Amino acid sequence: MIRVLCLSGPNLQLLGTREPEIYGKETLAQIHKRVIARGKELGAAVKCAQSNHEGVLLDRIGAARGKFEGLMLNAGALTHTSLALFDAIKAVGLPCVEVHLSNPEAREAYRHASRIAPACIGKVAGFGAESYLLGLEGLVRRLAGSK
Ligand code: DQA
Repeated sequence: MIRVLCLSGPNLQLLGTREPEIYGKETLAQIHKRVIARGKELGAAVKCAQSNHEGVLLDRIGAARGKFEGLMLNAGALTHTSLALFDAIKAVGLPCVEVHLSNPEAREAYRHASRIAPACIGKVAGFGAESYLLGLEGLVRRLAGSK
């Protein structure tokens, strides 16, 4: 079975009430439930976690080799600033899909650049919670094809 680690970063624990006009009304727990269920349909075991702390995200990515075949990451605002997350994805050497609920490139200029994108195999953004499901599908397809 393909194992996927799905990580969400700062402030995403507030989904449901956080600017619902941008991020939707679903909570992160509800999104995680859907991601895990879609994973089962696709033959993947998905572990989901969220942290507001860059170091915790780095620790989880750094420990992922041997435990997971692929990564999905919504790094929140760290997307736009964190060279350390870029380095962690490169260092662990696992395929990573960048996901966002909103489409950062259609928003404020300071959200247009992603520091982590060059370390990722692809990105899904702008489809709300569906971005997570679409990202998972793409990742699992890539992993299944590379067996
Ligand atoms: C986000 C987009 C980021 O720009 C923002 O800082 C977030 C959420 C998204 O999922 O749309 O926290 O990653």
